[in-house]
Amino acid sequence: HTYIVIMAGGIGSRFWPISRKSHPKQFLDILGTGKTLIQDTMERFASFVPKENIYVITAKEYEEITKEQLSDLPAENIIGEPYRKNTAPCIAYISFHLMKKDPEASVIVAPADHLILDKENFLSICSKALDFVNNNDALVTLGIQPTYPNTGYGYIQFNAAEVAPAVHKVKTFTEKPNKELAQTFIASGDFLWNSGIFFWRVESILKALHIHLPEMYEVFSAEKDKFNTEEEKATLEAIYPLCTSISIDFGVMEKAHNVYVIPSSFGWSDLGTWNSAWENMEKDYLDNAVAGNKVMIIDATRCVVHAPKGKLVVLQGLDDYIVVDTKDVLLICKKDKEQEIKEYTADVKRNM
Ligand code: GDD
Ligand code: MG
Repeated sequence: HTYIVIMAGGIGSRFWPISRKSHPKQFLDILGTGKTLIQDTMERFASFVPKENIYVITAKEYEEITKEQLSDLPAENIIGEPYRKNTAPCIAYISFHLMKKDPEASVIVAPADHLILDKENFLSICSKALDFVNNNDALVTLGIQPTYPNTGYGYIQFNAAEVAPAVHKVKTFTEKPNKELAQTFIASGDFLWNSGIFFWRVESILKALHIHLPEMYEVFSAEKDKFNTEEEKATLEAIYPLCTSISIDFGVMEKAHNVYVIPSSFGWSDLGTWNSAWENMEKDYLDNAVAGNKVMIIDATRCVVHAPKGKLVVLQGLDDYIVVDTKDVLLICKKDKEQEIKEYTADVKRNM
């Protein structure tokens, strides 16, 4: 049986000032579509599996907001982790939980905060990936054609031959390379970006965790009978402090020898920055992208504007700017200087 695991515990600091630790990106309507990113992610999968089979794993402090935003999901499928330990413990936990419930389970593990434009194509690729993992002891990821040396992604090199329709064996997986290495990868033309959307049978990922993160595996395994019982919550409280904080990419994907990739193109973006939001938003004839219901634009071009409901924003004579208004912060920043937003937020935190 197929299960979906949506990971939604990250902080999403690059979308300041609308994304805050208390209210990160996955819970925001970044693009002004009327839906938050996690709602969009959930809907994408709701046509694919019954809602009872969709799990959301998030941080304890986001459990309430997740339940509010995903009110059609069974409440027990929304689980808050007691500590932030990155994605490997999150995946270890849900894998032990599902193993107890359904040893035949296969899963799609997906981030909560990505944009996927071509949903049909995406779901058809999901079916191919599931077919493959159901018949092989394999860890599958979807690979995206890269466009520039982004150091925040995983890079995948793969064999040309298909081992199944669209599926290729991965030769190397390099998580978050430095700039130089990323440039070499891009120049070679031989690499894909890791989309961070994974497929496997629960049995396969547990085996991989056992091999590559044995200490973490043992911590969970020692309590495996308690998963999917009333004791689960208390068990997590006890186990999590014993886990190292590490991502599944560094912890397993870089090391495992049974990793496969499906080169994919379905209008993917991880919406990492305001520029990528602008690229993916609807624009007016002067290429301004606006989220917010009352914005008046006069003679401005290529701006991205995000305003709270009911607030009128008037923009005149501004080109290539990010304008983001929130209850307590107004940001006006040149689009090509967005990398500096991180630096201001450090200062702002000191002053607020
Ligand atoms: N439950 C839970 N607990 N979720 C978490 C945690 C955690 O401790 N940490 C992160 N997440 C969630 C995030 O909210 C996000 O949806 C997903 O897990 C991935 O985490 P990120 O922190 O966004 O990872 P990344 O973007 O740096 O890197 C990953 O994604 C890239 C593509 O966007 C990697 O898989 C890269 O290899 C990949 O290229
Ligand atoms: Mg991410």
